[in-house]
Amino acid sequence: MKSLKSLTVFLIYVLVCVIISFPAYSQTNPSLCAAYKNRFNVAVAIDGRLPDDYSPKELNLIRTQFNVLTPANCMKMYHIQRRRNIFDFDQADAFVAFAAANSQKVLGHCLIWAKDVRTPAWFFRNGDNPPTRELLLERMQTHIETVVTRYRGKVPYWDVLNEALADDENFIRPSTYLSVIGDDFIAKAFEYAHAADPEAMLIYNDYNLFFANKQKKLKQLLQYFKDREVPVHAIGIQGHFELDKIPYEDLEATINLIKSFGLKMVVSELDIDVVLRSKWWADNGKYREELAKYDPYNPACPPEILKWQAQEYSKLFALFSRHSDTIQRITFWGLHDGQSWLNNFPWKRTNHPLLFDRNAEPKPAYYAVLPTK
Ligand code: GLA
Repeated sequence: MKSLKSLTVFLIYVLVCVIISFPAYSQTNPSLCAAYKNRFNVAVAIDGRLPDDYSPKELNLIRTQFNVLTPANCMKMYHIQRRRNIFDFDQADAFVAFAAANSQKVLGHCLIWAKDVRTPAWFFRNGDNPPTRELLLERMQTHIETVVTRYRGKVPYWDVLNEALADDENFIRPSTYLSVIGDDFIAKAFEYAHAADPEAMLIYNDYNLFFANKQKKLKQLLQYFKDREVPVHAIGIQGHFELDKIPYEDLEATINLIKSFGLKMVVSELDIDVVLRSKWWADNGKYREELAKYDPYNPACPPEILKWQAQEYSKLFALFSRHSDTIQRITFWGLHDGQSWLNNFPWKRTNHPLLFDRNAEPKPAYYAVLPTK
């Protein structure tokens, strides 16, 4: 009897030691998506293959902090239908299965990307000629129908159209879609997606929608959607911000604009760049040579910058919370700093734009966005 008791005590002691030596599993940080569950979903974009390309610690973050996952690349056309009529769903299937096993939702990204360079070359060719309007529409329909139908009931949200608004004085970005089909390629994309899954939330996604030039075009686009009764349900504002110039007022004006058309909004690709990038495009690129060697926060980001970033994230989340009647989701573009695209775009540098650092540990920004009540 006595030996049974000491064995039990010993086993409890071993268990406690095991738990203490695995802090990543025992001391889970408060969950962001749980904290925001009455306001909006909190999501993350994941590149590569799930779960194989991620460490146990990273998987723990993915599973506990976010309730929606979006594939950063594996559902894009140049991945899924790189060659005509040959669909590669391998990675996308694994992604959807991972999310389902963990009761997370998936946002499919993206069915049509309105930039020629982001579309496989075959899509715009018919032998030596460009496709006719009918052929291009048929290709769009086949692509959208095939992908959406496969995940019907499993992927409730779709970025149907990405980046169709022009950066210059045009309304719609010049592309083969526009020159061959005309601007109704926009309406058609949503109609095909809606026919394939009438239950899905369909989203238009773009960048810089809070800057005056694009805001004006967004208004035109919202009017276009309304006039043609296009089945679109939400606007995605990408939200790739720079630390020193987050346009809070313009951002709020854009949220109100979307609200005034009765649509939902999502913040679809959130990050805050700390190695500021605007200079890259200034004065016809004259600073590029100098910037290409600029890597000030390698290996670490100074505490005062992290603190500044935390304050900006906190202000953003306060703004988003004020509009939680309109905002349906906030998606971080990448899990942690080591996986951000801003380490490579527009030049190679050590960036720190997200809530978790390279060791998948929470940064001041993480604690700053956790709501206090
Ligand atoms: C755009 C696209 C995303 C991604 C980012 C950069 O915002 O919508 O899919 O490619 O660029 O990584």
